[in-house]
Amino acid sequence: MFRLGVLTGGGDCPGLNAVIQGVVVRALQYGYEVYGIEDGYKGLLYGKARKLSLKDVEDIYWLGGTILGTSRKNPAKSDEELKTVVENVKKLGLNALIIIGGDDTLGAAKKLYDRGVPVVGVPKTIDNDIPLTDYSIGFWTAIETIADALHKLHTTARSHKRVMIAEIMGRYAGWLTLMGGIAGGAHIILIPEKPVDLDEVCRIIKERKERGEPYTLIAVAEGVTVPTTGELVAASTEKDEFGHIRLGGVSKILEDEIKKRTGEEVRSVVLGHIQRGGIPSAYDRVLGIRLGFKSVDLVKEEKFGYVVVVRGMDIIPVKIDEVVSTIRKVPPELHEYINVFTGLY
Ligand code: F6P
Repeated sequence: MFRLGVLTGGGDCPGLNAVIQGVVVRALQYGYEVYGIEDGYKGLLYGKARKLSLKDVEDIYWLGGTILGTSRKNPAKSDEELKTVVENVKKLGLNALIIIGGDDTLGAAKKLYDRGVPVVGVPKTIDNDIPLTDYSIGFWTAIETIADALHKLHTTARSHKRVMIAEIMGRYAGWLTLMGGIAGGAHIILIPEKPVDLDEVCRIIKERKERGEPYTLIAVAEGVTVPTTGELVAASTEKDEFGHIRLGGVSKILEDEIKKRTGEEVRSVVLGHIQRGGIPSAYDRVLGIRLGFKSVDLVKEEKFGYVVVVRGMDIIPVKIDEVVSTIRKVPPELHEYINVFTGLY
C-alpha cells in the first residue's frame, strides 16, 4: 500500500486545513494511505504521525489553523537531525511527503529532497512572499482581517481626531500592508520596499487636517526600517531555528516621532497574531482544496521536487529550487497604490 505523509510547518494560517482535506480526499481516491505528521518537522524528528481517514478531514476545510499542529523546527539545523529525519521517513514507511509551508519550511523540504526523500511542496504564508506563485494560502484571509481591523480603527480615530497607526505582519515584504491598507482605506501605507519619508508623512497628516479631515490612519509593515536609524525593530532578538528575529515595535517608534513633529494625538496598535487566526475565506478554502488535489496528482505522476503554485486560474508545478532561493517583495509597479487615498504621488 502506498503511504503518503503530510505535514504543515512554520507559522500557521487560515486555509491549511483545506489543503489537508484536499490531500487526504485525493489520496484516498488513488487508494493511498495518508499519515499526518504532527507539529511540522518536529513530528518527523520524533517519529510522530497518525493515520488520517476521510472522517478525520471531511469537515475541516473551513477551520482555521492546522489540525496537524505546526512548529518552527528546522530539520536541517544539524546534519545529525537531518539524518534522523530521513531515517524516520523510512521507518514510518512513507513513500512520499507533501510539505505545506513558507520559505523556511520549503527550503528544508528541498534539503530532504536532495537527500532522496520524494517531496512535493505547497506554498502557504500570510506574508505572500513566496516567489512564482500569485498568492499563497492564507494571504487573502489575512487581508480580510486587516481590512476589518482598519475599518474599526477609522471610526475611533475619526471620533477622537487622532493619528492612528496599525502595525501589520509580513516580515521583510509589504504585501499584507499594501493590500490590507488599500482594502481598509489607510491614508498612508508604509512598506519595507520603500524608505519611509517622515516629512512626507507629517505633511500628509497636516494637509488632511487643513482639508477638514482631522484624522489619519497609517498602515505600517513590521519590516519597515526606522527612518532615523535605518534599522529594523525587533520584538525579541532571540532567533528561531531558521535564524529569524521576531519583528515588532516600529509603530510605537513612529507614534513618538509623529507626535513630536506634529503635536497631534497619536496611538499605535500592533495587529499581531489575530492576522493569522480565524476561519479561512471562501477563496482560501477553494484554493486550499485545489492545491491539495494537485499536490497529490504530482505524487501520482512521481513528479517530486516540485511545488504547486497559483497562476491566474491554474495550479501548476514549478521546481522547488526556483521557489526557495529568495523571497518575493512588492514590485515597484505596485508602489503607486501607496498613496491611493491621499491622491498624492
Ligand atoms: O511568517 C508569518 C508571520 O506571521 C510573519 O508575518 C511574522 O513576522 C511571524 O510569522 C511571526 O512569527 P511567530 O508566530 O513565530 O511569532
